[in-house]
Amino acid sequence: MTGRELFSEARSEKVVAASFAGTPDPRLRQITTALAHHLHRFVKEVALTEAEWAAAIAFLTRTGQMCSDVRQEFVLLSDVLGVSMLVETINHRAAGTSTESTVLGPFHLVDSPPRDLGENIALDGKGEPCLVTGRVSGPDGEPVPGAQVDVWQANAEGFYDVQQPEVQPERNLRGLFTADGHGRFRFRSIVPRYYPIPTDGPVGALLAATGRHPNRPAHVHFLVAAPGYRPVTTHLFVDESPYLDSDAVFGVKESLIRQFPLVDDPARAEEAGLPNPFRAVHFDVVLQSADQEATGIPARQAPA
Ligand code: BEZ
Ligand code: FE
Repeated sequence: MTGRELFSEARSEKVVAASFAGTPDPRLRQITTALAHHLHRFVKEVALTEAEWAAAIAFLTRTGQMCSDVRQEFVLLSDVLGVSMLVETINHRAAGTSTESTVLGPFHLVDSPPRDLGENIALDGKGEPCLVTGRVSGPDGEPVPGAQVDVWQANAEGFYDVQQPEVQPERNLRGLFTADGHGRFRFRSIVPRYYPIPTDGPVGALLAATGRHPNRPAHVHFLVAAPGYRPVTTHLFVDESPYLDSDAVFGVKESLIRQFPLVDDPARAEEAGLPNPFRAVHFDVVLQSADQEATGIPARQAPA
């Protein structure tokens, strides 16, 4: 008999990897080959039983069945396994002083409501008032006038508007702002609360079975973009929030945590259009230029 080596426990990863050797696309060849290696090493390391393998298949089946137009359980699985954060981090390595990125999450709306600078995104007025200010700049510190600053956040009870359509006004706590001529932005809001990711599906069951909590620390989402610059998807984290050191989706980066001090100053409150006292936070965003090489992304080489 000539040709391919037959399957054996000892050399299974090599035999299966070799079956992909003829893949015409070099990148697909690299990925399938590495996948075969790691998957087989993993199964051997834990000596997977047939019952465990069947349970894993059933788990992935339930994960797929949970997916719909408004629910992506596979992305949630990737989130709690830290894979979403790893892919995000590898592909958006911060260069120099540029703002670090983090996960987009499932609650972003592509048609974020355009709002004027200074507007209040807390449409129902519930929660602890907060003034958010910041400046968008480029890699050399130059202001980025007209930068698009898309923000969204949970309310003081830890829910997004889309999770409570009967309770919160539509587009509550969301806004698309255009930075002024100096790259500055400001808006009024409330201090968000920490919240659990959806736990009513297989990912929730996985967290429960492994003794992990489902919570994300309090944060405001930012997606900042401007022509000529690489857009950044990031969060502003509330420094006094629980779960900063145990985010269920591993999204926290130290550089994104800010204090939200209480300001007791009637004149500033009046100027901001907020009741006194109020919280205030400042969050500067530094973009990388579009032509800046993504730093350190491993070269996509085909395996030998
Ligand atoms: C969020 O921050 O909105 C989020 C991110 C990942 C999973 C679930 C929610
Ligand atoms: Fe969120």
